[in-house]
Amino acid sequence: MEITVKTLDVTQTKTDCIVVGLFADKTLTPGAAKLNAVTEGGVVRLLDLGDLTLKAGHTAWLTAGPKQPFSRALVVCLGSSAKAVSLQDMTATAGALARATTSKNIKQALWDLDGAADHLAGEQLGALIAEAFGKHLYRYTATKKPTDTAPKLEKLSLSIAKGKIKPLAQGVAQGTSLAKGINFARELGNLPPNICTPTYLAEQAKQLAKGYPALSVKVLDEKAMAKLGMHSLLSVSAGSAQPAQLIVVEYQGKTSKQPVVLVGKGITFDTGGISLKPGQGMDEMKFDMCGAASVLGTLAALADAKAPVHVVGIIAAAENMPGSRATKPGDVVTSMSGQTIEILNTDAEGRLVLCDALTYAERFKPKVVIDIATLTGACVVALGHHATGLFANDQALADALLAAGNRAQDRAWQLPLWDDYQKGLDSNFADIANIGGREGGSITAACFLSRFTKKFKWAHLDIAGTAWHSGGNKGATGRPVGLLVNYVLNQA
Ligand code: BES
Ligand code: MN
Ligand code: ZN
Repeated sequence: MEITVKTLDVTQTKTDCIVVGLFADKTLTPGAAKLNAVTEGGVVRLLDLGDLTLKAGHTAWLTAGPKQPFSRALVVCLGSSAKAVSLQDMTATAGALARATTSKNIKQALWDLDGAADHLAGEQLGALIAEAFGKHLYRYTATKKPTDTAPKLEKLSLSIAKGKIKPLAQGVAQGTSLAKGINFARELGNLPPNICTPTYLAEQAKQLAKGYPALSVKVLDEKAMAKLGMHSLLSVSAGSAQPAQLIVVEYQGKTSKQPVVLVGKGITFDTGGISLKPGQGMDEMKFDMCGAASVLGTLAALADAKAPVHVVGIIAAAENMPGSRATKPGDVVTSMSGQTIEILNTDAEGRLVLCDALTYAERFKPKVVIDIATLTGACVVALGHHATGLFANDQALADALLAAGNRAQDRAWQLPLWDDYQKGLDSNFADIANIGGREGGSITAACFLSRFTKKFKWAHLDIAGTAWHSGGNKGATGRPVGLLVNYVLNQA
């Protein structure tokens, strides 16, 4: 779908659908007033009949008459009043419009934004509209025929006053790039684990880099990793026929700054290993590579937007399987950092792959390092499915990430990383154990990672509760690509 920005007379345009807005206080935008005039009071009649719920994002249809060049009109409530419409309201509205316009046989639509949210920055507005439509139009079809509810929308025109075209169009371009990155991450997450293996992830990274000259990729195989001493990472893939891959993707935009390094957990399937998981819902452990997918999605969005930033993505990709060569509880391995680890539970594998990737990150002299991982079920218990868990050894970095999450409407919530929790990781047989007991499970997991991040500013995002939806609309969300892109662009 293509989004264009220009100044149009909404009721004089030939299109499948026009969209006009009004407010809960029953004031009409200029476009709604025009529609009301050409339909001899049609909009006011809708209000009098009570057919439009006066809450942001609620819509009602009007069918056009023979004299009108447009086929239908969609009337949308934008929020409580012209002055009070928020970015959240506009996000709800954009999402509702994407849903409504794709529910019918509509190929082209025109949304008149004049007077809709004049006090909001055009750039933010354009970005959130493009993101909402871009995300809504994604459908998974790799291993399934498209359904007949597949959206038909090919073109969305946004109409705005001449002087406001430029910022709105810039925002649209940004939001379009972001949606591409988010949908790329969703697609990788959704692909079945017999397709999306560590090798497949490496191929996808190479494929992505082919499309953008500022992206470069290097893949380390198991032999190269063994040479570097990454025996913690390799202990996870030991039981699998699929070899582990360390995928390094660098985006060098126009800047001379030290890179932001993003480290993604890429467990393409997590059976738990010898500490086998129960069968119920185990298929969802195909999503255990969503941290890795979010790193690739973020790089895709930044490269697509030609952002003036420097970002290195490191993906620790492996499959966690039981088998005769698999790591056993009680095994002790030496990590690349030199610290020995007693593996008490092979299902706490995310931290085992991440710790070596984090040590590897040192060589990039990073400005900051952020890891993204579906790390603990305990994080889902603590925060549910709304907030990503955030831990950091630097409060300024934590604050910047929280703020980015708020701006992107992809929120995180900080949890403590106090020394009090470190004792839980003591081992009689190694420098550190890989589990710290049931209580505070996401905190002790973060404490484990903190042992490998002493040389740089670091934050950890636990996306176990936010990376995918279960149930009827099972599927990857693409979170936290929005947060990460927003954070990186804000550093530029
Ligand atoms: N990938 C899981 C975490 C997970 C579980 C994410 C459920 C989302 C939903 C991770 O590798 C894991 O198995 N963690 C264990 C750690 C435990 C053994 C200390 C967990 O959370 O149970
Ligand atoms: Mn696990
Ligand atoms: Zn896992």
